[in-house]
Amino acid sequence: MAAEAAVALVEAGMLVGLGTGTTAAHAITALGRRAAEGLAVRTVATSLATARAAEAVGLAVLDFADCAAVDLCIDGVDEIDPMLRAIKGGGGAMLREKIVASSATLNVAIADGSKRVAQVTRSVPVEILPFARSSVLAALGRLGGEAVLREGKRSDQGNLLADCRFADMGDLPALAASLSAVPGLLGHGIFLDEIDRLIVARDGLVERCDRPLPQMKA
Ligand code: A5P
Repeated sequence: MAAEAAVALVEAGMLVGLGTGTTAAHAITALGRRAAEGLAVRTVATSLATARAAEAVGLAVLDFADCAAVDLCIDGVDEIDPMLRAIKGGGGAMLREKIVASSATLNVAIADGSKRVAQVTRSVPVEILPFARSSVLAALGRLGGEAVLREGKRSDQGNLLADCRFADMGDLPALAASLSAVPGLLGHGIFLDEIDRLIVARDGLVERCDRPLPQMKA
């Protein structure tokens, strides 16, 4: 239901960023249906799996390398707080997801009620340049994190993925800034201000929650 509500925002001619994961998959199906009904729409994908899924339902998928921005991005989250700050990357696609989300005029998160939390506490997914594996893991330790590499898993870019648990997630902006400053740490799953709108489905009801206007992207 959340995915359907987000896809209802798509207008003819839009370039739509498609997220990754089981929730985003519902949006891909719904958008494929609208395209089959005649809606002229183009998409970019935040992962190779999403590109395959989008093409399978007949959507035109452009290379994001050729796109400066998207009109609308629709993606899932792992956890999201009342300020629309989220943890993403359960599927390891957070680097591409953040890039596409940041370029969007409107970035919509879709979720079921279980993803909504008072405060995010999950392990933070991180993408690590293989060359910098040991130095990044050591830096994460110095930041108070306990990182666990996803054995045998690589990102779509061929980099390492790890999940890093922090005992104290109280100051998310500071933590995000510290992670972004680690050389060789290519991306992390803390989304501070990328999400403009949350659409949640719970018990058969759809609820929309917008980021307060002063912080909306132009
Ligand atoms: C993919 O890397 C993630 O950021 C997903 O968007 C997130 O994990 C939500 O996935 P599900 O919809 O499968 O829970």
